[in-house]
Amino acid sequence: MDWGMKNRMNRIFKPQDGRTVMLAVDHGYFLGPISKLEDPKKTIEPLLPYTDALMLTRGVLRNCVSAASNVQVVLRVSGGNSIVGKSLSNEGITASIKDAVRLNVCAVALSVYIGTEHEHQTLLNLAKLVDDGEEYGIPVLAVTAVGKELEKRDCKYLSLCCRIAAELGAHIVKTYYCDDFEKVVKSCPVPLVIAGGPKLNTPLDALELAYNAVQCGAKGVDMGRNIWQSENPVGMIKAIRAIVHENADVKKAQKIFSDSK
Ligand code: R5P
Repeated sequence: MDWGMKNRMNRIFKPQDGRTVMLAVDHGYFLGPISKLEDPKKTIEPLLPYTDALMLTRGVLRNCVSAASNVQVVLRVSGGNSIVGKSLSNEGITASIKDAVRLNVCAVALSVYIGTEHEHQTLLNLAKLVDDGEEYGIPVLAVTAVGKELEKRDCKYLSLCCRIAAELGAHIVKTYYCDDFEKVVKSCPVPLVIAGGPKLNTPLDALELAYNAVQCGAKGVDMGRNIWQSENPVGMIKAIRAIVHENADVKKAQKIFSDSK
């Protein structure tokens, strides 16, 4: 790995522990103004001090995040679909690597839809993006997306997806937590981060998810809805940060969440 690529990886995964708290706010690229992300600037700003990297589209980055901010950026570069369209898996690349360079990002992210009608297309998107990323020293984060088929998220399927993404050259893989998650981690040779998925029933559920994932070997989180749709977003991100970077257990994290209200 060349210096630029290594440097960008270290900007995402903090060198002291090799972990990251990534805040996902890219949902609008196919969901539009989803609840609590109607005004991205308002949602993002209070969370920035606790965020290692922001995952978002170039439109939200350019319009809703100050260029004076020192937060790291993981740029969502796949899309071309919508929640009201025919197929969520029908994605192409929506921003060039040159634009990623212009935006000074530390990684580019795309979704792969394995087991869908657009599996081939999204995997070739990944392979091409890795070629571009290698040329410019920009890591690629592959998201093992499931669209509306949330029931797909089991160990066997996610292990398959994560491994294929890594085999095609992804430098980071984002996936879902599942039972036997350590098996997913063990069979994927690149760092894994977890998505939170739709908002869980209680804050405790979200903290347990993050804790269990890190215990099983995830290198951190790339969570969205369970943070900014929480009734206490700052408390939630602080608590998750303690789990990721301070090895806090769920009890300690829950106290941080409550004390931040
Ligand atoms: C999909 O909408 C995006 O890739 C999100 O970044 C991803 O699903 C993570 O966000 P959440 O924790 O809300 O699932």
